[in-house]
Amino acid sequence: MRTDTPVAVKLKDYVPYPFSIDAVELSFDLGAQKTTVRARLSVTPKGTGPMRLDGEALHLNYIALAEGGGKAAPLDPADFEVDARGLTLLAPPGGPFVLETEVEISPAANTALSGLYLSGGRLCTQCEAEGFRRITYYPDRPDVMSSFRVRMEGPKAAFPILLSNGTPGEAGDLPGGRHFAEWVDPHKKPAYLFALCAGDYDVLRDTFTTMSGRRVDLGIHVDKGDAPRAAWAMDALKRSMRWDEEVYGREYDLGVFNIVAVRDFNFGAMENKGLNIFNSAYVLADEDTATDFDFEAIESIVAHEYFHNWTGNRITCRDWFQLCLKEGLTVFRDQNFSADMRSRPVQRIKDVIKLRARQFAEDAGPLAHSVRPDTYGAIDNLYTATVYEKGSELIGILRRLIGPEKYREGMDLYFERHDGQAVTIEDFYACFEAVTGRDFSAFRQWYAQAGTPEVTLDETWDAETATLKVRLRQNTAPTQGQPVKKPVPVPLLSALLDGEGGHVAASGRKAEPFLVVLEGAEAELEFRLPEGSRRPLFSVNRDFSAPVRLVRKLTRDERLALVRAETDPFNTWDGLQTLVKEEILALSDGSQAKPDDALVGAIAGAVKGALGDPAFAALLTRLPEVGELFLERQPADPVALAAARAKLQAALGKALAETIGETLAKPAPAPYHPGAEQASVRALRNAFIALLGASSEPEAEATLSRLYDSAPNMTERLSTLRALMFTKGGGKAKAIGHFEQMWKSNPLVMDKWFSVQASTGTAEDVKRLIAHPDFDLRNPNRVRAVIGAFAMQNLAAFHAPDGSGYRAVEATILAADKANPALGARLMTAFEQWRVLEPKARGEAEACLKRLVEAGLSENAMDIASRALAAPG
Ligand code: BES
Ligand code: ZN
Repeated sequence: MRTDTPVAVKLKDYVPYPFSIDAVELSFDLGAQKTTVRARLSVTPKGTGPMRLDGEALHLNYIALAEGGGKAAPLDPADFEVDARGLTLLAPPGGPFVLETEVEISPAANTALSGLYLSGGRLCTQCEAEGFRRITYYPDRPDVMSSFRVRMEGPKAAFPILLSNGTPGEAGDLPGGRHFAEWVDPHKKPAYLFALCAGDYDVLRDTFTTMSGRRVDLGIHVDKGDAPRAAWAMDALKRSMRWDEEVYGREYDLGVFNIVAVRDFNFGAMENKGLNIFNSAYVLADEDTATDFDFEAIESIVAHEYFHNWTGNRITCRDWFQLCLKEGLTVFRDQNFSADMRSRPVQRIKDVIKLRARQFAEDAGPLAHSVRPDTYGAIDNLYTATVYEKGSELIGILRRLIGPEKYREGMDLYFERHDGQAVTIEDFYACFEAVTGRDFSAFRQWYAQAGTPEVTLDETWDAETATLKVRLRQNTAPTQGQPVKKPVPVPLLSALLDGEGGHVAASGRKAEPFLVVLEGAEAELEFRLPEGSRRPLFSVNRDFSAPVRLVRKLTRDERLALVRAETDPFNTWDGLQTLVKEEILALSDGSQAKPDDALVGAIAGAVKGALGDPAFAALLTRLPEVGELFLERQPADPVALAAARAKLQAALGKALAETIGETLAKPAPAPYHPGAEQASVRALRNAFIALLGASSEPEAEATLSRLYDSAPNMTERLSTLRALMFTKGGGKAKAIGHFEQMWKSNPLVMDKWFSVQASTGTAEDVKRLIAHPDFDLRNPNRVRAVIGAFAMQNLAAFHAPDGSGYRAVEATILAADKANPALGARLMTAFEQWRVLEPKARGEAEACLKRLVEAGLSENAMDIASRALAAPG
């Protein structure tokens, strides 16, 4: 069997929907096997012609139409056509009318987890991007906004709690053990924000008082017995609500805000109006079952979905090409929230790690696309690192260019001007043009062009005239379908460093950091210093002010001198990171036999110097992942890179042995608190535990086993378990067995157990994990914990030159894709980099991709596979 690639959708084909849907009334008769959905759409035509409604996997029972306030009369079969993708009213009335439909759907049979589905016996929905059409016939596009009124009824025993968007209306009991509830959403919204949840939950309740003094009832709905584990999510929610008031002046706009946690969920979470639905992994946490990493993720995802209430819901996207309008902007907002809750420089470094690992890789491969693309195949595949992470960076650049005050003014205008509308990137930038009087057309090239700009920096020093000349050039390599690139404005936060922790004044500027904006393909800067001055060091792209790849030919000593002189924490970290990358490359290609003592000493020295800021010190010990190095030199040899990385890690562990010993001898902070201060201390402990795992010393394993046994929380339990995976003695198997015994009834913890092994083990290990009775193809978290972790975090094993890694997971990817195309497609992106691999793995990867295509993929997965296989050019 083979599937065709989906038909491309093009931005230039956009036409407004020719009808307005003034109101929607939905009535659900809920059942797991069969749910009946009645819809009443109040329609006003805006032109003439047929009316197209989207609909998939629906069984139509009834369709009727009413005009002029009259009674609805069933439609004649000649008046409409039904096909696999929707329904067309061939000749709708010219004036306002009401369309009534009744359809049947089967939540239990819905394995795609899009539309209305069953998870753990409860009903829930996922409508973004195009899931609403699997619930009823409707114009399922974001520019059709309407008022929704929802009535649900069903058996009270199975579904005691009935939730939808907005605020609750009437509710009550019905004969036969049934009951009903109504919900009304006063805000117009697109269908992708519709949500419904029905089931038996425990609820953690709280309240929030908004800045104008209105009370909001908050509820987090979880599995029975889990309510205490939602406390951190609740705390994060209240902090998010306050932050949006304080930083953006945005108040919540309903009396109710509910969150529902769901075990089977394709993504992290979803911002449905007034009823956010979350993957339970991003709600449930306590010290025994969740790590600091989980607590941090919960905080930022709760914030992200909450922030969508204004950036996404009140103002939404005109079409899905504009996805970055809500996602990039909302990521920018959640990143700044996290920076305010924790450490700004540490947050920045983490964001850049993610950007480089995922977005730069995407931008350099066959799936490269612009932040605002002009064409797409499968819409689910547009939720990418480019739209999210680069989209966020572009808002960061905008803010950097115009300053925080103008940024806030522009945002205020955006909210005022477009509240209740579905808009475009152009509309967004028009607001900033209005408040600054500047022209952003050149800036918007960032949105139109795929690929990461490369900025080359050359410098010369003239001692005679005490002048530093800096030449900057930019270039973006061609990407698929975009052979010629234009320059983009690149804001480079810069400084002249004196080498003693201070800055130097030059050319009449003050002795402080300054912004250089590279507008064209190249620019030359000249800095005149007072006569007789020593050569200053040029610090550039501080705080990673632009998402570019910086090319600067420096020797190891020059780079080390620059790191020592740095006054910007991001650049201190990044300078070391660059040195480490170069070192791993040299070790992997054999040009260097062992790690350079001076470099290892310098890193160890930097770590020791940063012990007062443990989260930052932890980042200094971090070595780039194998995948990040794929970008640096090609063809890439993951096996050699992993070995080189391990060598350097062992050397660093040795150099820090004493500090590691002292740090780990101290007890972990107690009692446990997930906040930044303690998490920072534990981050350094984890980093040191990882270094112990990389050391080949036998005492290290004993220490790790001891730390594992006495771990006071999941953070340390998991970091020691992970470190033990790299050891050779019996401690590893013992810990794996113990952990499983201890947590076999907690699926979220077991996901960690699967993931730790898949991301560190062999192809044989992965086969064993897939065969484990608790491996569940229908649960996306579990599939990602095994297949995702192996294929995306264990590159040396996945891309094994004999193809064993691919063969270990191939059948499972196919099976997952058959049930759940969004999941299948996500897994397929693991092949994104296949062309840059060394010849053996590359050949095996291509063969595997072709076998997958031949075996038959979903449209979503086929969209990825065909782009991955397409000839470059
Ligand atoms: N709107 C998305 C959820 C979504 C993702 C819907 C993909 C349809 C397809 C939500 O706001 C989101 O972005 N969620 C992220 C987490 C967030 C913190 C970046 C996710 O689910 O990964
Ligand atoms: Zn989002």
